[in-house]
Amino acid sequence: MLEVKNLKVHLDTASGIVKAVDGVSFHVKAGETVGIVGESGSGKSVLAHSLMQLNPVPPATYPQGEIIFENRNLLDLKEKELRKIRGNEIAMIFQDPMSSLNPVFKIGNQLMEAIRTHQSMSRQNAEEKALELLKDVGIPDPKSRLNDYPHQFSGGMRQRVLIAIALACQPKLLIADEPTTALDVTIQAQILELMKDIQKKYGTAIIIITHDLGVVAQLADRVLVMYSGRIVEEGITGDIFYHTSMPYTWSLLRSLPRLDSDIHQRLKSIQGQPPNLVDPPKGCNFSPRCPFVTEQCLEVDPSLVDRGNGHRAACILSESEYEERKHEIQDIEREGVEQ
Ligand SMILES: Nc1ncnc2c1ncn2[C@@H]1O[C@H](COP(=O)(O)OP(=O)(O)OP(=O)(O)O)[C@@H](O)[C@H]1O
Ligand SMILES: [Mg+2]
Repeated sequence: MLEVKNLKVHLDTASGIVKAVDGVSFHVKAGETVGIVGESGSGKSVLAHSLMQLNPVPPATYPQGEIIFENRNLLDLKEKELRKIRGNEIAMIFQDPMSSLNPVFKIGNQLMEAIRTHQSMSRQNAEEKALELLKDVGIPDPKSRLNDYPHQFSGGMRQRVLIAIALACQPKLLIADEPTTALDVTIQAQILELMKDIQKKYGTAIIIITHDLGVVAQLADRVLVMYSGRIVEEGITGDIFYHTSMPYTWSLLRSLPRLDSDIHQRLKSIQGQPPNLVDPPKGCNFSPRCPFVTEQCLEVDPSLVDRGNGHRAACILSESEYEERKHEIQDIEREGVEQ
């Protein structure tokens, strides 16, 4: 349904050209959930916005690549054609549910406007549809809530409303950029459950963007790991978690708390800072921070290598070298703890 080919997005800033998305290729099949993970600043939001052509131009330019959505290259479409696709075929929800709703209009009016912008429908039918959507996203007593203003809703309920607005036209693809980051953990879990239910009911494909690997584990069929504007590992969720093949992903996973691990085991943060995207390092972008680094990594910029089953990783180490290095590091750490 969606195929992104070798996409580059540059941002022209006072300090130089930021290569926010630097040659990214991936696809999303109908009805599938794809997770995009990576540290802050890795280019996740710029990539998501480029799928709907929402990056402001300038500073954004698209020097290379294609975004093929149902046989059309979105980079070739005019604003008028794009407007038809946004909301109708591809919808997006954002991190902060308050700033995405208009504080001076009632929830019901905002929902009905979303419905009627894309479908010609009487006011009464739009109201019925709005009620049905609010029910679908789990808002209790939806009839009376239609007349409320956004500030009368809690953060979790606002996010539910935004999901309802996004679903108003039954999009084929829903892009969710950190949809649960602003919410507390229990509400976060409810919103994730809701997204799963919605996918079952409507068959919507979902791209979920997050820096939280736990969210991805719950929701995604496949995962793309981003680092400094590139995809550095890609695969089905199980392979990313249990057959990690790229040191950056391994480091990300180790920075997560786990219930089944020894309580004396400390969380391992990733040392150093993400690279400057104006002037990235020579060789592998992750090499200055990589615990597996070899001399060759400082020279060779690794491309994604196929590891079978759609699993790809950008690392010059072979599978056996990678495993060997991983065990060495773990042994050194274990000795450190024992001493
Ligand atoms: N409007 C802008 N002008 C200049 N630079 C920008 C702009 N928007 C983003 N960037 C830069 O582009 C890079 C990618 O940013 P992006 O927002 O995509 O990161 P992200 O992965 O979504 O991070 P986060 O997890 O914090 O949301 C960063 O280096 C950021 O500083
Ligand atoms: Mg972001």
